[in-house]
Amino acid sequence: MAQALTNTLEHHWLPFTANRQFKEEPRLVSKAEGMYYWNHKGERVIDACSGLFCCAAGHGRKEIAEAVQKQLMEMDYATSFQLGHPSSFELAYRIAAMMPGDINRVFFANSGSEAVDTAMKIALAYFCAKGEGQRVRFVSRERAYHGANFGGTALSGLVKNREVYGTGLPGVVHMRHTDLPDHEFVKGQPETGAEMADDLLRFVQLYGGGTIAACVVEPAAGSTGWLVPPKGYLDRLREICDEHGILLIFDEVICGFGRTGKAFAAQTFDVVPDMIAMAKALTNGAQPMSAVAIREEIYDTIVDQAPENAIELFHGYTSSAHPAACAAGIAAQDIYEKDKLFERGEEMSPYFMDAVMDLRDIPIVENIRAQGMMAGIDLASAEQPGARGFDAQIKLFNAGLHLKATGDCALVAPALIAEKSHIDEISGVLREVLSAY
Ligand SMILES: Cc1ncc(COP(=O)(O)O)c(C=O)c1O
Repeated sequence: MAQALTNTLEHHWLPFTANRQFKEEPRLVSKAEGMYYWNHKGERVIDACSGLFCCAAGHGRKEIAEAVQKQLMEMDYATSFQLGHPSSFELAYRIAAMMPGDINRVFFANSGSEAVDTAMKIALAYFCAKGEGQRVRFVSRERAYHGANFGGTALSGLVKNREVYGTGLPGVVHMRHTDLPDHEFVKGQPETGAEMADDLLRFVQLYGGGTIAACVVEPAAGSTGWLVPPKGYLDRLREICDEHGILLIFDEVICGFGRTGKAFAAQTFDVVPDMIAMAKALTNGAQPMSAVAIREEIYDTIVDQAPENAIELFHGYTSSAHPAACAAGIAAQDIYEKDKLFERGEEMSPYFMDAVMDLRDIPIVENIRAQGMMAGIDLASAEQPGARGFDAQIKLFNAGLHLKATGDCALVAPALIAEKSHIDEISGVLREVLSAY
C-alpha cells in the first residue's frame, strides 16, 4: 500500500543540493523584487547572483509578468511542430538582430542543457547534409559545464558531474582548461595563455581534423569559477576551426545578455562563432527558455538538402517556443533595450570588479577573476574539496546574501540594474563573512 504523504519538505528532491542538510536547515525564499529576495521569515537577502545568472534586469519585472499573463489569457499553448504562433517569430527576429556575423536563424528549447544538445545535433545534421558524415567528434574543454543532459554531460569537464553517469558520448574529447598558475587576481582577460588554444590541434593531429564536427566552449567558463579567456585564445580557436572545417560553438548560457560587457561574449571578445547557445537571461529567468542561434549557411545547408514537404531536422521539444516563454523573452528584450541594460552593466563593471578585487587581502581568499559583471572568488579548501564553498554559501545566506558556490569558488554576478550601493552591500557582506574564517 502506498505510504501516506505528509506535507513536509521531504518530497521535493532538490537538484544540485545537499538535500539532507537542506531539509534540516532549509533556506527558503518566498518573495523577490529588484536586487533582493526575502526569506520565509521575512528577512531581506541581497541577490548577488541574479538568481542563477538569470535575472539580469532584477526581480519582479511587472512588464514581463503582464506580458506572460496576457499571452496565457489569449492562447496558453501551441505546439511549434508544423504550426506557429506570432510571438516566436518576433523573438527569433529580435535575437537574430543582436547576433554577430551571419548568425540569424534561431531554434528554441527550454533549458541551457537542451540548447547545448540541440547545437550538437545541428552540427551533426549539418555535416550529414554536406556529405561530411564522418565528422562526428566533439572537442570541449576540461572544467567546462554544458548542462545536465547526456550531451552536455559528455561535453562537461567537471568530475562530479560525470563520474557516476557512465562513459559519456563516444567521440567527445577535452582540451586543457585556461586557468594558468600566473593568472592571479586578474581583472578582465589574462595577458598569457592564448597558446592553450593550440591544444585543439592535439585532436586534429590524433584523429584528423576532418573527423571533428565542432569545438564547443563557454567563452568565459562560468560554473567552474569564471575563467576568462586569455587575450587571443578565442581568436586562435576560431583560426584552427577555420583551417580544419570545424564548427565553433559558443555556449553563452551564462555569458549571454550583457554579463561580460556587451550583449554576447562573442561581441565582448570579438570572435564570431558558428552557433551560440543561450538561456537564463533570455527571459530574465521569468520563464524556462533557451535558444540556439545559428549561421544562415548552416540552416540553409540542412534545410535545402531535405526533400520537398519533408521535415528537415528531426529534433524539437513539446515546449519549444512556448507562447508564454516567447512573451517573457520579448518583454525582457524590451527592458534590456529601453533601460540600455547591457551598456549599464558595462559601465558599472569597473566599479564591480574593483569592489570584488578589494577582497584579496582576506586570508582565505586565494584568487579572484573578474570580467564584466561577474567574478569568481577562490576560497582556500577545507578538509574536503567543496566543503569550504558549501559552508561559505550557507553562512553568506544566513548573513543576508545569496550567491552560487561551485566547489570552493564563490560566484558573484549581480543583476545589471545593480547600483554602487548594492555592490558595496555585496562586498561588505562578503568581507564580513569571509574574514571570520
Ligand atoms: C554554460 C552553461 N551551459 C549549460 C547550462 C545548463 O543550463 P540549464 O541548467 O538551464 O539546463 C549551464 C547552467 O548553468 C551553463 O552555465
